[in-house]
Amino acid sequence: MPVTPTLETTDCQDLLPAELLAFLPCTTPDAWVDWALANHELLLIDHAQCEKKAASTAMSLLYRYVDQPLLLTKMSQLAREELLHFEQVVKLMEARGIVYRHISASRYAEGLRRHVRGQEPERLVDILIIGALIEARSCERFARLIPHLDDELAKFYRSLVKSEGRHFEDYLMLARRLAPVPIDARIAFFSDREAELVTMPDTAFRFHSGVPA
Ligand SMILES: [Fe+2]
Ligand SMILES: [Fe+2]
Repeated sequence: MPVTPTLETTDCQDLLPAELLAFLPCTTPDAWVDWALANHELLLIDHAQCEKKAASTAMSLLYRYVDQPLLLTKMSQLAREELLHFEQVVKLMEARGIVYRHISASRYAEGLRRHVRGQEPERLVDILIIGALIEARSCERFARLIPHLDDELAKFYRSLVKSEGRHFEDYLMLARRLAPVPIDARIAFFSDREAELVTMPDTAFRFHSGVPA
């Protein structure tokens, strides 16, 4: 269920493009924000993981869809940008004495990817829609956290809100362009799954987890 935004949330949502807010099926529950603030180390470690994963998703599309020039340009730019974010998070963790360790992935990305269709071009369209949702949700979560963070992290997350907002637009644009048929019903399907994953109780805190069980 969508959560009524608080005044603070409304303020930070001024950072987000109207298209992005319209695209996401719901706002992040306040309970997740509280969970994140109580798990500073895990937040940054999983954030680093997400940046690395975002780069690797873009790279895998570069390998698979060599006949799509626009996709190649966008994914190449995206992979570089995500790796830069990765470096920035790792540097920030080092400065804060946070030890980078392996942690399990959240259920989120797999909970979306398990619905990807097997044949082309449906497979590509689904992956691009999921990419748009992940980027948009990441962007929204950075914005939700900003009012509660120290100056250094707030400044960093403000810069990420801008990048991830663009990434969301690129994924959505590619999905619409490369799909042979309108994709609104498919977007609605994945949006419903996404809303379930972010609002339902979850076992472990991660950047894209649901709410505490
Ligand atoms: Fe990123
Ligand atoms: Fe991104």
